Amino acid sequence: MLIPGDLYLNRVSRRVSTLPLNPHRVLIARAHELRKRGVRVYDYTAGQPGLPPSTEALEYFMEMVREDPFKHFRYMPTQGLVELREALSEDLKRYGGVDVSPDQILITTGGAEALLISILALLDEGDTILLLDPSYSVYWDLAIFAKLRVETCTQSFEREFNPDPECIKEKLNRARAVLFASPDNPTSRVISSDVAKTIVEVAYERNAWIIYDVAYKHLVYEGDHIWLERIAPSLDNIVVVGSFSKDIAIPGGRLGYIYGPRDITGDLVKLKAVMGIVSPVPMQWLAYYYLKEGFKEKYLREVLPVYRSRRDASYEAFKRLLPEARLHKPKAGMYLFPDVTPYLERLKMSDLDFALKLAESKGVVMLPGSIFGSAGRGYLRITFVTMSEHELEEGFKLLRGFLEENKVL
Ligand SMILES: Cc1ncc(COP(=O)(O)O)c(C=O)c1O
Repeated sequence: MLIPGDLYLNRVSRRVSTLPLNPHRVLIARAHELRKRGVRVYDYTAGQPGLPPSTEALEYFMEMVREDPFKHFRYMPTQGLVELREALSEDLKRYGGVDVSPDQILITTGGAEALLISILALLDEGDTILLLDPSYSVYWDLAIFAKLRVETCTQSFEREFNPDPECIKEKLNRARAVLFASPDNPTSRVISSDVAKTIVEVAYERNAWIIYDVAYKHLVYEGDHIWLERIAPSLDNIVVVGSFSKDIAIPGGRLGYIYGPRDITGDLVKLKAVMGIVSPVPMQWLAYYYLKEGFKEKYLREVLPVYRSRRDASYEAFKRLLPEARLHKPKAGMYLFPDVTPYLERLKMSDLDFALKLAESKGVVMLPGSIFGSAGRGYLRITFVTMSEHELEEGFKLLRGFLEENKVL
């Protein structure tokens, strides 16, 4: 029997029509438009590494490709290049003292796909996920996409953006999983070891999942990355989501990974096969050369001091030029996350309106904190790694000029 066409009133599925357009993408598109119109744009939006990938690594990679192009572009098994998984296993041992066997690792198309796979593999529709607020805007979208209930714990300025352990105890008790990042986006905080211990204790007691996003784990300027795997009694309830976008600076290469308990690897791989067979093969080889030939370590040695001094310069300049803003000096990551509420109140503007008007009038593009959750309202997310110290300050001066012209400073 023919199905009448008018049964299909919507041209797209509810799955996609109910997915909100993330303002993050709108602002990034706005920066591109302004640039095309010839405006000098100070773009603080992207979570983009500030320096190009290692020339040495790229040259080595290209030579290898020239020697054997077939090998670098053929299909390979879904779980990912075994040489890369072995090198990553060694890398985890070396940097974190963590024992993860290569067969517990799945190579993904970016940390973004690793997040999607872990959520779809571990949670069912209607399950509750605990998110920290504010947090990476994609987490909220993923929760909508996977039809999850969301509980939140606030990460407040007063606690240097760590959640209250009492809130974790209460909310994780009712959730099937908690998802959070350390170092964090947008706040740049490193999770405190007390909070990390609480999360592990509650999750293991309740048999809940911890999805731990470590996309920025190598970008730590003071203190150390928290290896949750070492705090936990086992890997049984932890799934770690990683990325090659930030540390070896190949975000467009789209490469990331997941590792977790051995008994779920097969399920993760099954899902990955449905989502796109295998992650970009040439990029898997490139990441392998980075790890195996020592290019990663060398690259990080060169890049981290540059990021650190950009962090220092941008922090000092922002404090000086916008004295009423509340701002922590980030110990890690890529972002300043100032609270500019006093200015917004006098302007009678939301952070989103402010970001749009600032982009239009000054070509200064920053992300409004509310994109990252309601607790981010009144804040701005400012990438400090992508511009020179001078440019970072020039953009802040324009921001100050905007406030002066509007008579709020
Ligand atoms: C916290 C966090 N996790 C994951 C990602 C995803 O990165 P990618 O998909 O490029 O690996 C990002 C990107 O900015 C991020 O900020």
